[in-house]
Amino acid sequence: HLMNQLLGIKDDEKRLAAQLQIDHCLVVSGDADQSGRVLDELGKTLNSTLQLLLPPGRLTVAVMGGTTMAHLARQLTFQLSAGRELTFVPARGGLGEAVTIQANSIAAAMAEATDSNYRALYVPENLSSESYESLIKEPSVKEVLGLIDKAQVVIHSVGDALVMARRRGMSSDTISMLKAKHAVAEAFGVFYDASGKVVYKIPQIGLQLADLDHIPYVFAVAAGKSKSKAIAAYMQHAPSRTWLLTDVGATNSILTGA
Ligand code: BG6
Repeated sequence: HLMNQLLGIKDDEKRLAAQLQIDHCLVVSGDADQSGRVLDELGKTLNSTLQLLLPPGRLTVAVMGGTTMAHLARQLTFQLSAGRELTFVPARGGLGEAVTIQANSIAAAMAEATDSNYRALYVPENLSSESYESLIKEPSVKEVLGLIDKAQVVIHSVGDALVMARRRGMSSDTISMLKAKHAVAEAFGVFYDASGKVVYKIPQIGLQLADLDHIPYVFAVAAGKSKSKAIAAYMQHAPSRTWLLTDVGATNSILTGA
């Protein structure tokens, strides 16, 4: 209860957490679909939540890519690294995204904003299994994979399934399959339908959903009414200790089912 008071947890946040069966939700006002400022606000909320929750000392923070994450990065502040030595690492290898929203760039941007370190993971997608096997033995790749493995903090978003499939240039066959299976959400390269059933997985190097089980601090940031189905679907798999940071637009839609 003390933590709730410190964070100023409101009623709609409790209701959302109960509905999604996770421990913590933080909701900012507005709808990210309507205004980019909402994501700035979420970034500030993420910054203060990290400041409050993260222990002092050395911490490895694994981050995913996307436009949400890119926005958040701009709101992190160097105060986060007071008493902490943060190293940002991309949670996964390339997923065919534009450079500015790749996890590598987000890790660099968050490190810059917080005056911390970062490491990049240079692993392209669509590798043959032979290249994959030899690449993961490369010392520089191995080292970053080791850091990802020991991350204490993960910050990620949740994407709309078809938006993500198109953005990553997935084949029209795969997109038709995702439509046929009613995919609504994507996170960590896994696609889900509204009931939370896994409908497709992109094989990738790096953090997998199952790894979240041994990571103490998990932050999911996704907002806007258009993401409500995606958020609700993914949260069926999220560890209950996940902190969901979202907005009123997504929250109302999840709570009313509309
Ligand atoms: C991708 C991540 O880069 O961005 C996904 O790999 C994430 O896991 C997605 O769901 C979200 O993107 P956006 O642009 O909607 O924030």
